[in-house]
Amino acid sequence: MKKKLVVLTGAGMSVESGLSTFRDSGGLWDRYPVEDVATPEGWEKNPALVQEFYNKRRKELLTVKPNDGHRGLAALEKDYDVTIITQNVDNLHERAGSTKIIHLHGELTKVRSVKNESRIYELSPDHYEIAPDETDAYGDRLRPHIVWFGEAVPMIEPAIDITEQADIFVVIGTSLNVYPAAGLLRYVRPQVPIYLIDPKEVKVPVNRPVHVIQKGASEGVAELIRLLHQ
Ligand code: APR
Repeated sequence: MKKKLVVLTGAGMSVESGLSTFRDSGGLWDRYPVEDVATPEGWEKNPALVQEFYNKRRKELLTVKPNDGHRGLAALEKDYDVTIITQNVDNLHERAGSTKIIHLHGELTKVRSVKNESRIYELSPDHYEIAPDETDAYGDRLRPHIVWFGEAVPMIEPAIDITEQADIFVVIGTSLNVYPAAGLLRYVRPQVPIYLIDPKEVKVPVNRPVHVIQKGASEGVAELIRLLHQ
């Protein structure tokens, strides 16, 4: 049986593809006030602005491609049972070929009914922009399929389950500022090795040894693969 390799990724995973992080200087939350575009209150106040923000993100996503980091993780499926738990709302892990992906914070390429959260719709590259008052066939308004600050994170349950089963746990490109995602580290079993790939120093919210690979995602994943194959 293949070992279970669980990878938690954040915005840094997609930097080398050309997408910004949130909290680095010049990051998204510097350019757009988070309370305006990523909270239920922001949506109440100005849904047009929120739709415009996510339409821009979708347009940007059409122009970028997976990087060697995403591809390296997809290639690891040959030797490991890999699950990616991502905080990213882009689809670059999918496009790189990873097959088991848990999106903790939703997906840019989807929208859903504001009334019935199980009615989720996949957008296509030729219809990726949502008008502020766009509705579904039931007449319900559509909202981005994104977990905003202050909202529940339904995918945390499957993410905890798989984290508890991990034989190897890897963290890539996340500042570990946002919960419950950062709290997943607490569910990694005691003897399981934890690797952390990030060009900057990241404060880890658990008191145990971590193998730090202080590099960007592409080089870092290449190094991880070397270490795992040793
Ligand atoms: N390779 C890997 N990591 C990188 C790279 C790179 N080339 N460049 C920057 N990073 C790292 C940064 O050093 C930082 O530690 O990526 C991390 C990005 O951190 P954040 O901007 O805080 O992003 P993230 O942790 O994913 O944010 C979590 O917060 O705003 C919300 O919902 C949003 O999912 C997001 C969540």
